[in-house]
Amino acid sequence: GQDLALSCGTSEASADQDKKKWEPDTKFLKTGNSIHATATYQDPSLLSTVPYMTARIFTAPATYEIPIKGDKRHLLRLYFYPSTYTGLNISNSYFTVEANDVTLLSNFSAAITCQALTQAYLVKEYSLAPTDKDVLSIKFTPSDKYRDAFAFINGIEVIQMPELFDTAALVGFTDQTMDAKTANLQSMFRLNVGGQDIPGSQDSGGLTRTWYNDAPYIFSAGLGVTLQASNNFRINYQNMPVSIAPADIYKTARSQGPNGDINLKSNLTWMFQIDKNFTYILRLHFCEFQLSKINQKVFNIYINNRTAQADTTPADIIGWTGEKGIPMYKDYAIYVDANNGGEEITLQMTPSTFGQPEYYDSSLNGLEIFKMDTMKNLAGPNPEPSPMQAEEEVKKEFKNEKRHLEGSENLYFQ
Ligand SMILES: *[C@@H]1O[C@H](CO)[C@@H](O)[C@H](O)[C@H]1NC(C)=O
Ligand SMILES: *[C@@H]1O[C@H](CO)[C@@H](O)[C@H](O)[C@H]1NC(C)=O
Ligand SMILES: *[C@@H]1O[C@H](CO)[C@@H](O)[C@H](O)[C@H]1NC(C)=O
Ligand SMILES: *[C@@H]1O[C@H](CO)[C@@H](O)[C@H](O)[C@H]1NC(C)=O
Ligand SMILES: *[C@@H]1O[C@H](CO)[C@@H](O)[C@H](O)[C@H]1NC(C)=O
Repeated sequence: GQDLALSCGTSEASADQDKKKWEPDTKFLKTGNSIHATATYQDPSLLSTVPYMTARIFTAPATYEIPIKGDKRHLLRLYFYPSTYTGLNISNSYFTVEANDVTLLSNFSAAITCQALTQAYLVKEYSLAPTDKDVLSIKFTPSDKYRDAFAFINGIEVIQMPELFDTAALVGFTDQTMDAKTANLQSMFRLNVGGQDIPGSQDSGGLTRTWYNDAPYIFSAGLGVTLQASNNFRINYQNMPVSIAPADIYKTARSQGPNGDINLKSNLTWMFQIDKNFTYILRLHFCEFQLSKINQKVFNIYINNRTAQADTTPADIIGWTGEKGIPMYKDYAIYVDANNGGEEITLQMTPSTFGQPEYYDSSLNGLEIFKMDTMKNLAGPNPEPSPMQAEEEVKKEFKNEKRHLEGSENLYFQ
């Protein structure tokens, strides 16, 4: 197996904004009867025309077969740009995607999903557990519930990755763990807490993951303060694989702030929309770059009101790492259903008074949230746009339509 980036519906190799090479998909497509199409409108938010402006369209089940090393874990990214393709109404696109025997998406509408997220394109990322097969079959099946339903895909990426998962402590239970090593996972959120977006080209281990700033997920007025290590501060990975996260993740953090009395009365709170009836793994990344002694900064961590670290076992980063500059992470698992969080994951931190630490503060450097498969299923329902969003969308479409027309006018007169 080799890392692969397929630009679907093209016949020539191309490169994206990061100069990453994308190759045509034809060689890996095991079924005939597909259509290749080019989007008629290029949204200004697209970072690059590759792989978004071309698509492979399926009106019947179709499969890609990609050679891999079955005993390795793989990242799979699916790129969708639900735009206008000649002769097709994107509102009719509902489909299922399976990777080997794992259902990734079902009754999936990229158009509805993008509308709800108010973005023009969508990247779905999965981390598939090792299997005994040296081929990854990716199957697209148009829905049989809608007339004229079709499936489409703009880009596919397959990247071999080291096994970065193990067991995770089940939050709210003592001594219970979930095994993420054998799980198929969907990446839901990947955040550089207190820091800037980190593009795939600057990720570690060649995994090309994008890390986003966490501010949009902060709940309530308390944004805390952002902290940054000096430029030449060295992150010492010791035995931790560098592919866990790039050094820049560990060189910024968000803490509650300098006033311990205020910190004690509040939580630093992040909130995330997720699909219910799934178990999620929260990977919290920590690295201390200011303090150097045990019991200087000690804090409690809660996930959906349940204790992840508190009482007699609060978090103490230096207590865990021994020194500053040493990165680490902690994995927590939580099952979310109507009785516990509904469609939300809430992460909260507040100082611990246990052991009377020197400062009353808490901090976090990075956060990843993964959905675990339940009996080989990762698919949830399409999100529902709020009525306000739907209204906005109409306005935006009108604007886009205008831009589109202006665009083609320019083209015509050139
Ligand atoms: C596309 O399909 C939707 C839903 O079936 C329909 O409301 C809409 O009018 C169609 N658009 C076009 C341009 O035909
Ligand atoms: C979640 O699980 C409950 C209880 O098993 C079930 O009633 C409900 O339909 C499920 N919801 C979804 C969205 O799967
Ligand atoms: C912080 O959040 C936890 C979990 O929701 C809660 O039990 C605790 O009372 C909160 N602390 C403060 C000071 O608000
Ligand atoms: C956590 O506690 C708050 C305040 O009591 C409550 O509003 C919220 O619904 C709880 N969240 C969960 C996931 O139980
Ligand atoms: C498919 O998705 C649409 C849009 O989200 C929803 O209205 C419909 O109920 C779903 N159908 C099934 C069979 O889940």
